[in-house]
Amino acid sequence: MSLPNSFLNRLSLPVVAAPMFLVSGPEIVISCCKAGIVGTFPALNQRSTEGLNEWIEQIKDSTDDNDAPFGINLIVHKTNPRVEADLQSCVHHKVPLIITSLGAVADLVDEVHSYGGLVFHDVTTVRHAQKATEAGCDGLILVCAGAGGHAGILSPFALLPEIRKFFEGTILLAGSLSDGRSIAAAQMLGADLAYLGTRFIATKESHAAEKFKQMIVASSAKDIIHTPAISGIPGSFLRPSIVAAGFNPDQLPEKGTDQAEFGDNMQEERKAWRDVWSAGQGVGQIDDILNVAELVKKLKSEYRQSIADFDLTISNYS
Ligand SMILES: Cc1cc2nc3c(=O)[nH]c(=O)nc-3n(C[C@H](O)[C@H](O)[C@H](O)COP(=O)(O)O)c2cc1C
Repeated sequence: MSLPNSFLNRLSLPVVAAPMFLVSGPEIVISCCKAGIVGTFPALNQRSTEGLNEWIEQIKDSTDDNDAPFGINLIVHKTNPRVEADLQSCVHHKVPLIITSLGAVADLVDEVHSYGGLVFHDVTTVRHAQKATEAGCDGLILVCAGAGGHAGILSPFALLPEIRKFFEGTILLAGSLSDGRSIAAAQMLGADLAYLGTRFIATKESHAAEKFKQMIVASSAKDIIHTPAISGIPGSFLRPSIVAAGFNPDQLPEKGTDQAEFGDNMQEERKAWRDVWSAGQGVGQIDDILNVAELVKKLKSEYRQSIADFDLTISNYS
């Protein structure tokens, strides 16, 4: 664990609310930071770097050093023409945490370190983790089987210990973590922080459509399909939303292009994610649409109760 105390001491629960395309914006980030967990959003949720600047200023104006830090997700991919301008905006505003997806680049890490920021990078395999370690990333986000968005296929029980063998930095665990017990379990497995996406779709502050939030509450793990057919990279999607968009979930093309687009075809990507909704297998634990403060309170209570239960359980074996 290499998280500086200046970061750690501002958290009331070891949780990052993950960045979600078309779902997270400044409202969710501000509420998360005020509740003591890290709030994040993808830079591409704003249609321009100017818009990104406005959101960062809004977040900075509404939070202070007593609140948890916030983070911004940058898609580091050759088809994303905004990555450099968005990075410069983050550097200018000294954004505390940058979350990179797809590419792990040493120059970017150096720029963020130059003002004291941290870089966490999404990985789904040991090879990706090795590359990100070489690039000097402070944290690795292990996006395991069952995660929402572009999920991996490995079990956390397999991936985390393999990566811990060579990586001494911060490890975040992602994939189907939707309640306080899962946060405690992630720590038990050796993660420093839990990374929750899907659970935060069903919050009052999220930008998700009301029907999307209701579908999250109504769904369970069996309703999640993992397929490259929607966006070109394998991702987890809600079966009922595929049906509602007019597709047959049982007859989707077997292979995607393996080439998600963040440039000229961004409109296509935006449309795909607007019409078909992504979620992880942890939907089965989500029964309510709360505001973020209520949700964090609930997660804290479940987290503490699960640890107390566990203490009681292990006392049987001493
Ligand atoms: C609707 C949705 C959109 C997402 N968009 C992004 C994104 O833009 N960038 C990113 O790095 N991850 C994205 N993710 C992945 C999340 O950041 C996170 O890794 C994942 O949600 C964790 O798994 P969980 O949903 O099971 O908690 C998205 C996930 C969902 C559900």
